[in-house]
Amino acid sequence: MKREETFNFSAGPSVLPREALERAGREILNYNGSGMSVMEMSHRSAFFQEIFDETKAKLRAALSVPDSHAILFLQGGASAQFSMVPLNLMEGGAADYAVTGNFSAIAAREAAKYGTVHIAATSQDDNFSYIPPQSALTLSPEARYFHYCANNTIYGTAWNYVPQTASPLVCDMSSEILSRPVDVSKYGVIYAGAQKNMAPAGVTVVIVDKALAGREAAYTPLVMSYKTMIDKDSMYNTPPCWCIYMLGLTLDWLQSQGGVAGMQEIKRERAALLYDVIDNSALYKGCARPEARSDMNVTFRTGDADLDAQFAKEAQAKGLMNLKGHRSVGGLRASLYNAQSMEGVRALAAFMKGFEREHHV
Ligand SMILES: Cc1ncc(COP(=O)(O)O)c(C=O)c1O
Repeated sequence: MKREETFNFSAGPSVLPREALERAGREILNYNGSGMSVMEMSHRSAFFQEIFDETKAKLRAALSVPDSHAILFLQGGASAQFSMVPLNLMEGGAADYAVTGNFSAIAAREAAKYGTVHIAATSQDDNFSYIPPQSALTLSPEARYFHYCANNTIYGTAWNYVPQTASPLVCDMSSEILSRPVDVSKYGVIYAGAQKNMAPAGVTVVIVDKALAGREAAYTPLVMSYKTMIDKDSMYNTPPCWCIYMLGLTLDWLQSQGGVAGMQEIKRERAALLYDVIDNSALYKGCARPEARSDMNVTFRTGDADLDAQFAKEAQAKGLMNLKGHRSVGGLRASLYNAQSMEGVRALAAFMKGFEREHHV
């Protein structure tokens, strides 16, 4: 299949802006007259240092990150942050965790290795189909921080409010970062794996309030210490150079599209195209409660696993790729990250209607 004939709805790694890929293609053998690919150059070279500094500056500008917060480019995915957060912030004490899906549950289990985890709220009782309201959060006075996952990639739910807590907020924004403005000053730590809205898999963006660094457990590996990474500007060891470069190209594209404010405007519209089909359908059922629906990951099912499989197969034959739900929950999922075109979503909405006409008696 040609790229032009496909729309990629993968939950991650996912579609990247065509402009960013094309530029990377043009520069792949010889970056900016260096005679080398970015993949081949020293991370200590002037060429790479410039890419690094510019990418960091672009990210700082895109999210209006205040000077109080450091931007780190780390490895190990968001999963490494499940350990890094408690190692650096828990001080052997307690922390509050909201469990609203698979990844926040893993984060809470990891943290329990290093201190006392208090489950401040969970939506497990209804298959993670909703987000607990502020009034349902039971916050512990001794918590060193409050951890939550802003967008639940597997279940297709998103927090539509910023929790109010006495302890610093720590947020996994892997599947929604750069899709809307965020008041970074409200957060102790924001982290996100790159492979959805930012870059290829391999770099994890961590935005950390510098005032929280330096309190890590004595046994914290050096590469997992926020303080080490802040002091060394993410270059204690070799950073994921190529992914950082790609992030810079994505940020250029983002700026040309009106930045995070531009993304926020279109993401609602894009998701509404699919939720409208679901809400007016006798065949499809949305998995998330309407008030908790994610604009990034639209989850739905027909109620018949074989029909779901047939949907994904027929869609794929028409170039609508990667619509199977996560293997742990089944059903169907369309991920609509920043680089997803409206044209692709319209094509999917039309396919959904056609499939219903054909298969629903
Ligand atoms: C919300 C969220 N958190 C964490 C992860 C785990 O990320 P990684 O595979 O980069 O460790 C994912 C992966 O899809 C995710 O969607």
